[in-house]
Amino acid sequence: MKKMENNHMQLIDPYNRHLKYLRISITDRCNLRCVYCMPGGGISKLRHEDILTYEEILRLTGIAADLGIDKIRLTGGEPLIRKGICDFIARITALAGIKDVSLTTNGIFLMEKLEKIKSAGMKRINISLDSLKRDRYKKITGLDGLENVLAGIEGARQSGFYPVKINMVVMEGLNDDEVLDFARLSLDHPYHVRFIEYMPIGTTNTDVLLHHVPSSSIKAKLAGLGRMVPIEKDTNDGPAERFRFEGAAGEIGFISPLTHHFCPTCNRLRLTSSGYLRPCLLSDQEEDLRGPMRSGASDRDLRDIFFKAAFNKPCTHHLTAESSTPLSTQMSTIGG
Ligand code: 5AD
Ligand code: SF4
Repeated sequence: MKKMENNHMQLIDPYNRHLKYLRISITDRCNLRCVYCMPGGGISKLRHEDILTYEEILRLTGIAADLGIDKIRLTGGEPLIRKGICDFIARITALAGIKDVSLTTNGIFLMEKLEKIKSAGMKRINISLDSLKRDRYKKITGLDGLENVLAGIEGARQSGFYPVKINMVVMEGLNDDEVLDFARLSLDHPYHVRFIEYMPIGTTNTDVLLHHVPSSSIKAKLAGLGRMVPIEKDTNDGPAERFRFEGAAGEIGFISPLTHHFCPTCNRLRLTSSGYLRPCLLSDQEEDLRGPMRSGASDRDLRDIFFKAAFNKPCTHHLTAESSTPLSTQMSTIGG
C-alpha cells in the first residue's frame, strides 16, 4: 500500500482507487419488506450479540478515518429503528477526520426523529421511495406507510437537510410507469431524485416478478418533461449521472450498476452490521473485523484488516440482468 505525502497510510487498492467512503450497516432489522430486498416472510434476524455495538462501530470508524476514510453513510436494514441512533450520530459526526456523514432511511420514522438527527449533526439524507401510489407502496414494501414517508421527505426539506435525495429502484411492470411523476418532484423543490437500476442479488420476494429497466429507457421516458441539462461531476460525487431539467429547483440522477458500470471510480468499502468488511457490494468476499476485535486485536491489527480488504477489492463485477449473483449475505445486512 502506498504512503501519501502526509505520511499517513491510505487505503489505495491495486487498481489505484483511493477508498475514502465507508458505508456502515448499523442493523439488519427493518420494518419494511421491500420486494427487491427480502423474501415476503422476511429473513432470520441476526442475534443481538452478533451485531456490532455502537462503541465497536465508533472504534472501527476511527481507525478507518486514520486511513483516509472521510465520508460515511449509515444504512441498515432501517437505521432509524436501532435504539440510541441519534446519540450515535452525534458521536460519529464528531470523529476527527470524518467530513461527511449521511443516512439512508426508508422514511417511516423520519418525521419523528428529524429534529434530533439534525441536532446530532447530520446534514444530508437519502430516502428510499419506490411508489407515490398508496396501494402500490404497500404492495412493494408490505406496509401502508406512504403518508409517513412523504411527510418525512417534506419535513427534511423544511428543516434544511440538503440535499434530500429520493431513491427509486425502477422495476419493470411494477413502478416504471411512475418515473415521470418522480422526475416531477425535482421541478418545484430542491429534491435530488435518483433512478436506480434494480440489481438481481440475494434472496428477494419470489411472488413478484422483478426485472430491471435500463437507465436509457428511463431517460427516453423523461424526455417529454423538458430539456435535461447535464450537471458536471465534482470529486465527491457518487456513481450517479446527474441532470437538471431546465429551470428546475432540484435534479435527477441515474445509477446504472447493470448497464453502465461505475466500478473504475468506486471508492467504497462496506461494514456489515455483523462486523465484516466488504470491498464490493456484489461479491461475497469479506474480512471479519468483529472476531479479531472481540479477541483483543490492537488498532494496528484491525488496520491491517482494512488493508487486506482494500487489497482484495475486485476490479469490477460481472452482474448482468440475466445472471443474478446469488450472494449468501442479504442486502439488509450489507445495506445496499
Ligand atoms: N437493487 C437496487 N437497489 C437496491 N437497494 C436495495 N436492494 C436493491 C436491489 N436489489 C438499494 C435501494 C434502496 C436502498 C436501501 O438500497 O436504493 O433504496
Ligand atoms: Fe464498487 Fe463493487 Fe459496486 Fe463495482 S460492484 S461499483 S466495485 S461496490
